[in-house]
Amino acid sequence: MFTSVTVVLIILVTGYVLKSIIKPKNYPPGPSWYPLFGSSYVVENMSKKYGAQWKGLSKLAKQYSTKVLGLKLGRELLVVVFGEKNVHQVFTQKEFEGRPDSFFLRLRCLGKRLGITFTDGPLWKEHRQFTLKHLKNVGFGKTLMEKEIQSEMFTILEYIDRKKRKSINVKEVLPLAVMNVLWRFVAGEKIKEDRLRSLLEILNLRSRAFSMAGGWLNQMPWSRFVIPQLSGYALIAKMNQQISDIIEEAIKKHKSNAVEGTDFIYSFLTEIDENKETYTEEQLKTICLDLLIAGSQTTSNVVEFAILAALRNQAAQQKVYEEITNTLGDDIPCWSDSYRLTYTSAFLLEVQRYFTIVPLAGPRRVLEDTQIDGYLIPKDTTVLISVADLHFDTEIWDNPHEFNPERFIDETGVLKNSEHMYHFGLGRRRCPGDSLAKSFIFITFVGILQKYRIDCSNGVLPSDEPSVGLIAAAKPFTVDFVPRNPMVS
Ligand code: HEM
Repeated sequence: MFTSVTVVLIILVTGYVLKSIIKPKNYPPGPSWYPLFGSSYVVENMSKKYGAQWKGLSKLAKQYSTKVLGLKLGRELLVVVFGEKNVHQVFTQKEFEGRPDSFFLRLRCLGKRLGITFTDGPLWKEHRQFTLKHLKNVGFGKTLMEKEIQSEMFTILEYIDRKKRKSINVKEVLPLAVMNVLWRFVAGEKIKEDRLRSLLEILNLRSRAFSMAGGWLNQMPWSRFVIPQLSGYALIAKMNQQISDIIEEAIKKHKSNAVEGTDFIYSFLTEIDENKETYTEEQLKTICLDLLIAGSQTTSNVVEFAILAALRNQAAQQKVYEEITNTLGDDIPCWSDSYRLTYTSAFLLEVQRYFTIVPLAGPRRVLEDTQIDGYLIPKDTTVLISVADLHFDTEIWDNPHEFNPERFIDETGVLKNSEHMYHFGLGRRRCPGDSLAKSFIFITFVGILQKYRIDCSNGVLPSDEPSVGLIAAAKPFTVDFVPRNPMVS
């Protein structure tokens, strides 16, 4: 009896092990798979060795001479795509429109598959459309939004002025400014500054603690009980609590009509009152969470990188300044000026190429068996899109490791090559916040450079090597803002 049980057990375990290490037929090339962990170790090691997950994956793809890298993390099939053709295909084809349903993503969405960013199918379609329409109805993407951004720009200038030429770390003001604009349209008012600061700090830690694949917590959800801190679970739980408190308080105030004017939360509460299916407070909370997480640091990190790039490239900074003074003089910048400020626009495009904020876009879930580059991508495979690798692709860019705004200007002085930039994605899941991001980046950067020269604060030029987690961020640095017109100081 004992022997037969042992034999059955051995057969079952062997079957399980073999099944977990054998790749599907015609699956894209990549490292071997090991029982339980798949190719996790290789991915972790390469990411550590090259300083960022996207760089490690890019090196692995080159090792296997492929533009479609086939991996398995724990039990999850994961494919990473490289090269313009494949990136374009995944961004735009319907088969790739899904989002994975993993432990990590549910945790990020307050425990349920709700919201916009990590849902798919009819719920995603309906709520993405609703959110965009109603944000627009209350002024998002319109002149009112530009006015809010300009007002935040003046707050930033006042902050710099108050510091009286002391070295400044722009992280102290930029993320608060973006959040204020965003929250104005979502909830009709600003988030209290102390709450916002602590929330931003947690978002920052979270971005650094996780990779796009969700890390060990995703592969071993039980690790949250054994090592809550080390697995990152405690961090996400704290973040969820803080964000929930902010959003719940806003919803409560709206329910008692204590917020003046119109905003997204009021529009959503009206739908709940009309008992529309899928319009629930939980869904409203998760959409607000999606917007806060997706919109805050992405945008402010770009402005921070633009300031770093201006500091490290003084000749380019001077060209931007001259273009601003010759074209705008002292006028307050607005988004439509970007069409006249060609060099400045090229500079900002180069910032978003050189420091790609979302180096790996996605994750996407394959909705049915499909193919990329002739390889089979089975249904439910997770796909990551290597945007950063494309932004350094030598088939598109000459000397990609050189910071050079001129690569975006043709011989007649007109912008070129922007069609090769994929920083906001493409297709039906393209970033819905791009109008806020683009206007904020342009207006604040131009507003600062119009008034100040950006100088080294302690004689040491800060590194331009970003720290990369879920998104890229500049390593902490300070700069001196020297008034262009001494009367300003
Ligand atoms: C420079 C700033 C930003 C960058 C680089 C950026 C980048 C991206 C990218 C690449 C995607 C597509 C992901 C995919 O294809 O799977 C995306 C999606 C998204 N972004 Fe942004 N984003 C920025 C700012 C914002 C802002 C300001 C908001 C908020 C209003 C926002 C809200 C979202 C949301 C909700 C999604 C998910 C859309 C969906 O799944 O349908 N983003 N973003």
